[in-house]
Amino acid sequence: MEKREITEPPGLHVGITYNLKKSSRDEKSDGQPDDLEPDPPDSDAEYDDITTVLAIKAALESKNCRVSLLEVNKDLPVKLMEDKPDIVFNIAEGIGGRGRESEVPALLDLYGIPYTGSDETTLCIALDKALTKRILTSYHIKTPKYQVIKKEQKELAGNFHFPAIVKPNAEGSSKGISDVSVVTNRRELQNLVSRDLKLYKQDMLVEEYISGREFTVGIFGNGDDVHVFSPMEVCYIKKEGQYNVYSYNVKRNYKDYVRYKCPADIPKHIETEMMNTARKIYEVLSCRDFARIDFRLSPDEELYFIEINPLPGLAPGYSDFPMIAEFNGMSYDSLIWNVLKSALQRFGMESYVGKD
Ligand SMILES: Nc1ncnc2c1ncn2[C@@H]1O[C@H](COP(=O)(O)OP(=O)(O)O)[C@@H](O)[C@H]1O
Ligand SMILES: [Mg+2]
Repeated sequence: MEKREITEPPGLHVGITYNLKKSSRDEKSDGQPDDLEPDPPDSDAEYDDITTVLAIKAALESKNCRVSLLEVNKDLPVKLMEDKPDIVFNIAEGIGGRGRESEVPALLDLYGIPYTGSDETTLCIALDKALTKRILTSYHIKTPKYQVIKKEQKELAGNFHFPAIVKPNAEGSSKGISDVSVVTNRRELQNLVSRDLKLYKQDMLVEEYISGREFTVGIFGNGDDVHVFSPMEVCYIKKEGQYNVYSYNVKRNYKDYVRYKCPADIPKHIETEMMNTARKIYEVLSCRDFARIDFRLSPDEELYFIEINPLPGLAPGYSDFPMIAEFNGMSYDSLIWNVLKSALQRFGMESYVGKD
């Protein structure tokens, strides 16, 4: 008698697209030309460790997905054509330029491959902090006063409000933000901006420094199914410099500098205002599936939007977004599945959602 082959029903095939930190990579270069200026120490702050990619892979495999790892470089189009994923779980920061986070979504749209997270336009806008502030201001969302100092600009122009914080206009993960980023006069501002324009090779954002408490709000889902987690407060237990700043160094050594509190100890009306504002920003910027939004609350209880991360870090036990989820009773694996599920629903791939 002929032996009948028993085949498993095919699981969902998910490709994870990502960029790794140099320490997690085999090769040093992505094919970028060598630069004469040395890179700043936080040059690959935004990129991921392989442990994050493997944690997402494990979470997806626990839901019977077949997962392939698609590191983002110039070979990505070939990898996608060969691998043919049903959907991509995208955490790639991209390779270069102000629109680098849009590289992968734009390519996936070109090939008609569904993917998690916001599209290229939202990612592109959100990576430009000043542009995002300008858009949100037109929706009456309060954000610190600011000016952009262009690469080409030799002299500072205009009035500045001190203390001010100086940050690269198109970065994340506190890249370019340190204990010296808050300046108290024009001379300090001029010195820092000249240094950072060279170091980070992009426009610098100078913003009024808002003293007071700091919060971050996680969101997932789409349309009527948008879920806003209760805000997490970043409570400073030790100062790095004179001002409280969630800098690159503080984030890396967070256990020494901050404690997280979620739900935050704030009056109900402020919590509601923060969550409603976060939802409004998510909608205004057409975010998809998930995002994280940073706020400061001034001593006179004015709420200020600081920035949005439509591609928030997902390092387990480290990044804010998985921490917020955990505080709200959602495990890492469930968070990853919920993000994928939101994307599957958007793309009309509900048949896979039943495998919950
Ligand atoms: N206008 C501001 N006032 C006070 N603190 C700020 C301001 N802008 C940034 N910070 C501090 O710097 C940190 C990093 O800035 P942010 O704009 O969130 O950059 P990143 O995208 O690198 O996270 C914030 O979490 C906050 O602690
Ligand atoms: Mg931030």
